[in-house]
Amino acid sequence: MQSLALILAVLALGRCQYQEPELSSCPEQYGLQLYPHPASCNQFYKCANGTLSLETCENGLLFDGTGAVHNHCNYHWSVKCGDRKAELTPSGRGICEYDFGLFSAGPCETYFVKCAYGEPIDEPCTPGLAYDENIHGCNWPDLLEYCDPEKVVGFSCPAYVDSKDPAAKFLPYPRYPSGDCGRYVVCVDGKPRLVGCGDYTVFSDESLTCEDPEYVPKCSKYFKK
Ligand SMILES: *[C@@H]1O[C@H](CO)[C@@H](O)[C@H](O)[C@H]1NC(C)=O
Repeated sequence: MQSLALILAVLALGRCQYQEPELSSCPEQYGLQLYPHPASCNQFYKCANGTLSLETCENGLLFDGTGAVHNHCNYHWSVKCGDRKAELTPSGRGICEYDFGLFSAGPCETYFVKCAYGEPIDEPCTPGLAYDENIHGCNWPDLLEYCDPEKVVGFSCPAYVDSKDPAAKFLPYPRYPSGDCGRYVVCVDGKPRLVGCGDYTVFSDESLTCEDPEYVPKCSKYFKK
């Protein structure tokens, strides 16, 4: 606690134009409260039942008060620091640019790499999606550069849909069975997207809509294991 007092004293000396208040004791004696550090987006104050501590986010993480990734901190790209200074130094251990983060495994990969404490774990996208670095999440492959949606979805959209084709009912976005009862293919500008039925429904090859499994004999057991 002595080093903490010293840090706080140093902070108090270096007073300047920051808006957030500096903290030397906890305003509240019960429960957990978190306060932004006035100068650093990497740090924050934690009051646990009246005990003050100065916390530092792990490498790749920053503090915005809503953090849930690790110790109340968030991935740096999602944090608005305002005037608080953010220090980000890649730790550069293999594929984990930062010790904590989400990283692409390559263009058009259907999984991404989640790093925690510098340890990478592969996380799969929902089937039919590929990892999009720009949104830090999985996305439709037709929205990605260097990505072949036909490969990801495993379906080629026909160049022409005859008006007698049942799929024509849904033009300009014709639909097709995917081979998986819980999903179907929608063609958007000639490129396939795999869409989930959801709500415990299954895709009917006849109506080309999602229905209760009891009306789709070949998928009636889809949710029963
Ligand atoms: C505060 O004290 C209560 C009772 O001892 C305990 O249950 C709780 O976990 C403590 N909260 C924090 C944030 O340390």
